Amino acid sequence: MPSGEGGDESFIGTCIMLAVDYLPISVATLLPAKTVGLDLFQREQDSGRYVLYRGATYPLTLDDLERLRGRGIHLLYIGKDSGPRYQAYLRRLLDTDLGAVDVAPQLQAGALNEVVLDSLRSAFGSRDLNEAVATISQLGALTAEIITRDEFAASDLFRVLHHDYATFTHSTNVAFYAAMLAAGLGYSAEEVEQITTGGLLHDLGKLDIDDRILSKPGRLDEWEFRQVKRHPGLGFRKLAKRTDLNEGQLLMVYQHHERMDGHGYPVGCVGSEIHPWAKICAVVDVFEALTSQRPYRKPLSRNKALEVLEREGSASFDLEVLECWKSIILSA
Ligand SMILES: [Fe+2]
Repeated sequence: MPSGEGGDESFIGTCIMLAVDYLPISVATLLPAKTVGLDLFQREQDSGRYVLYRGATYPLTLDDLERLRGRGIHLLYIGKDSGPRYQAYLRRLLDTDLGAVDVAPQLQAGALNEVVLDSLRSAFGSRDLNEAVATISQLGALTAEIITRDEFAASDLFRVLHHDYATFTHSTNVAFYAAMLAAGLGYSAEEVEQITTGGLLHDLGKLDIDDRILSKPGRLDEWEFRQVKRHPGLGFRKLAKRTDLNEGQLLMVYQHHERMDGHGYPVGCVGSEIHPWAKICAVVDVFEALTSQRPYRKPLSRNKALEVLEREGSASFDLEVLECWKSIILSA
């Protein structure tokens, strides 16, 4: 029997590869009736084992995708060495000039999410800041373009994002949210692009903070928290002399943890001193953190996260920005 044959999601064979041999991919990027050309694996919840879900030549049906979604399965896995082929498949989905396939916005957003995530990882991994910022600016422009299309709905976006807590996932999600919020606030297309890029860069300084602190389960002690609080300044210092980023983008990096009544960091400045783009970043940054999986707690639902933001209210956030974000979430 060929891999995956039969109407059921039959698991064929247990793999002996280790977790590090697999890359997660979003189910939202898979087209029904098309083969990705890669073996797709599923991770068994109880045992943590990876089992073959579909062989490389066996196409997924719409039913398969709906059944996965119905079971709350948003991720499948591919072999690590298949990463470049998966990225090539995704870029084909994003290439709107191809015209050959009519790709639904949700699928494009899913593909975009994976491509941005992968590019962000390798751009920052390269340690060549010039190249990284150039790549990130291009991605910011593409992201803003897709997210602000008329046919694109906020609900599409929430469905395709990953919600684990890692700096790159967080930065990607914050950028996607910032694009939606900036468009909702009426910024021009050019500004939405710049704000999206600022969102991708906002936590750049975290790359210089010890990962053991960033991923520590539970509360940070005073010294650890002081280390974390250095990241806006570290990121700002790295980028401040660049001529290809504007003041708003730099202040998104430097001020996204500042709060309206002055209880934020690194400076403790008040509302009138905080750049409007940093206020956008502040709202979506906290919202993203609350709706993501943390080592010590489950993600909050979107409505619960909104309640938390509202409780903080004007002490922390610009109320016009918060209201706009609320209306985007509630209409999703
Ligand atoms: Fe941050």
